[in-house]
Amino acid sequence: MAEGASTIRHVSENMPEINAISYANGQLGLLDQTSLPAESRVVWTNDYREVIRSVQALRVRGAPALGVVAAYAVVMAAEHIEAPSRDEFLSRLREAGAEIANARPTAVNMGWAVERMLKVANLHGDLPAVRAALLVEAQTLQQEDEDANRTMGGHGAGLLPEGGGVLTHCNTGALATAGYGTALGVIRAAWEGGKRFNVFATETRPVMQGARLTTWELVQLGIPATLIVDSAAGLLMRSGEITCVITGADRIAANGDTANKIGTYALAVLAREHGLPFYIAAPTSTVDLSIASGEGIPIEERDASEVTGFREVRTAAEGISARNPAFDVTPCQYIHAVVTEQGVSRPPYSESLDLAVRAGMGGRSVGLDD
Ligand code: MRU
Repeated sequence: MAEGASTIRHVSENMPEINAISYANGQLGLLDQTSLPAESRVVWTNDYREVIRSVQALRVRGAPALGVVAAYAVVMAAEHIEAPSRDEFLSRLREAGAEIANARPTAVNMGWAVERMLKVANLHGDLPAVRAALLVEAQTLQQEDEDANRTMGGHGAGLLPEGGGVLTHCNTGALATAGYGTALGVIRAAWEGGKRFNVFATETRPVMQGARLTTWELVQLGIPATLIVDSAAGLLMRSGEITCVITGADRIAANGDTANKIGTYALAVLAREHGLPFYIAAPTSTVDLSIASGEGIPIEERDASEVTGFREVRTAAEGISARNPAFDVTPCQYIHAVVTEQGVSRPPYSESLDLAVRAGMGGRSVGLDD
């Protein structure tokens, strides 16, 4: 049997699905992404403030996954709020929701999920009914995200080349979502559909989501891939080994400007210089039509210790100062297409993303490639 044929079977049939987020008996279970790939351990909590700490420590990360845990954090907050009246309960739930939504500022999915949960809380009269409805809503949101990723994979697979090399950045797979993944989901869908190309994954300095998490997922998927340092991308584009780039997104403004993991903008500029397509894959929950352009997207600045060392090991000289912006914004003119669960949006994004978001809210999917 040809080598490729056995790999297809491995990818589509034998792949154990990675489950980063579980909820059972009032407890949220998070596969601790800070200890991967060395150790797979799940941390459980019923405390929404502990969830916020896990989000900030990157035990769970990736925009769609953050939306799902934000929803369960609202469920847990609602379970523990004691209030003399429904109004007082809702007011305290809104306060908890604001804490949750602000845990990390760049990924819009947290605020999006909290808003959706608070709307549901407002619809119900007595507290047991509110609590029950919140749990159903969080479970629905989780399932919808996984479904959106699988659909997105189908829409995006046609964009990837037969042959050549596809570069991805950060981690956008099952770990970063409710399941399947966004950009990595598109890569997976193309592989499952029988396309063959080389996959390149960046390390993704400073906390190595690519080296630790994307490689871990790709090895389990049985998709051969090559890890590169972030700064090798230019060389491999120039040599013709990388022929296309696809990444995820943390927030997409109405005009298509896209915030994603630091280094994405540099990859988009390099892709333009080498005449290569640069794609974004993200669910419509990551599109923020309330922000006109990337200038309005808040950029998280994380602790400098992530740059001056890795885990407990100091790598930089004592006394040096460091900057650690965790995201950058790629202007829309560098982006050839944005893949969502509604289809493939092309420029001008102010029109096509608006259509995609409205289609996701129950309208018809019109004006989009499928
Ligand atoms: O800091 P992180 O690891 O949360 O950053 C994640 C990313 O930038 C991802 O590319 C993005 O959230 C898309 S996840 C499907």
